[in-house]
Amino acid sequence: MYKRRSFVFGLGAVAGAGACILTDKVKPLMADIGQKIDAARRDFTVVGEEPLRERAKAKGLIYGAASSYQELAKDAEFANRFAEECGIIVPVDSMKWKAQRPSPKSFDFKQGDWLAKFAEDRGMQLRGHTLIWHQALPDWFEANVNKQNAEQVMLEHIATVAGHYAGKMHSWDVVNEAILPANGRSDGLRRTPWLEFLGPEYIDLAFQAAAQADPQALLVYNDHRLDYDTPEMEGRRVAVMKLLEGLKSRKTPVQALGIQGHLFAHEMPFNPKKLRQFLSDVAGLGLKIMITELDVTDRRLRGDIAVRDRLVAGVYQDYLDVVLDEPAVIGVLNWGLSDRYTWIGAVRPRDDGMGVRPLPLDQDFKRKPAWQAMARAFDNAPSRLLSS
Ligand code: XIL
Repeated sequence: MYKRRSFVFGLGAVAGAGACILTDKVKPLMADIGQKIDAARRDFTVVGEEPLRERAKAKGLIYGAASSYQELAKDAEFANRFAEECGIIVPVDSMKWKAQRPSPKSFDFKQGDWLAKFAEDRGMQLRGHTLIWHQALPDWFEANVNKQNAEQVMLEHIATVAGHYAGKMHSWDVVNEAILPANGRSDGLRRTPWLEFLGPEYIDLAFQAAAQADPQALLVYNDHRLDYDTPEMEGRRVAVMKLLEGLKSRKTPVQALGIQGHLFAHEMPFNPKKLRQFLSDVAGLGLKIMITELDVTDRRLRGDIAVRDRLVAGVYQDYLDVVLDEPAVIGVLNWGLSDRYTWIGAVRPRDDGMGVRPLPLDQDFKRKPAWQAMARAFDNAPSRLLSS
């Protein structure tokens, strides 16, 4: 799999550069080669052929992925592979306001219902994403929602949507991405229409409404950029903790933190201890944790595909080793299952025009080293079955 040739070529380049002072040009080269050496050393051997859903289940965990309705409906081979690997599905866009709210007074559950049936037919659980978010709002929102009616509009939406799927949902992302310390508020909350109209209490209201509409679903607060050791992400972790502590102290029915887990396979400072501590802190509030949107951007990786794939797999391995060590973590979902269908191609494309490879299966639905890293992570994870 790994091509020795590019490895040796890399070392030759280092030797050539060895004599000069480490300039800014040489440093990335050294880092690149360091990564390659590391990728070459790693062991991604997997025992057996069982899919990820079975490996996760064997440990009392749940594994799944996001998919759009269109991809599953038009691509039967993908639908089959998806159901083989995944124990849970979350719609990429079908349960966002834009998809479900054609007008202020109407709801459209067509795509969501199709996905709910697909999940049921294939023995998968279903996750809802997302009831309250500042993005994916319909075009009519701005002209129709204001300070006076925002509470009623929000409560009606949650009651109707969560009510529609009540009893069928494993979990709901009740509020998504409410934190943005860069907006300058002392509570770290993002300035969104919901905050502007209803104040910070909108988050409590949303969770209360969701609990009422679907008492069985696990109610999740979901957010991103919580994974790395940068001042920005540290600030976000602190703000998320503050938010969760506040919700818990007011007895707002939040039950889990969703960590999106959009990762990068290039020079992001990963600090296992800090991430592990954050997970412990969240668990200490009595909350469960899910990794909800895992993928690994390979935008800045050079080298051939085999090398890139191993580097991406290494990121999966390092991350999941830390995450699955925390007993409060109950599941892991990828944001997409196959490189054929991933949002990374649109938002973080490669400069060289090659396809991105952020997910466990390749374009042809073949298992990649990232799949192997995930399989190994589940196989090595402490079992949740004994403790529950
Ligand atoms: C993304 C979808 O993948 C895209 O199809 C859509 O155009 C934009 O939204 N965090 C989230 C998801 O919570 O809802 C986002 O999904 C990806 C980032």
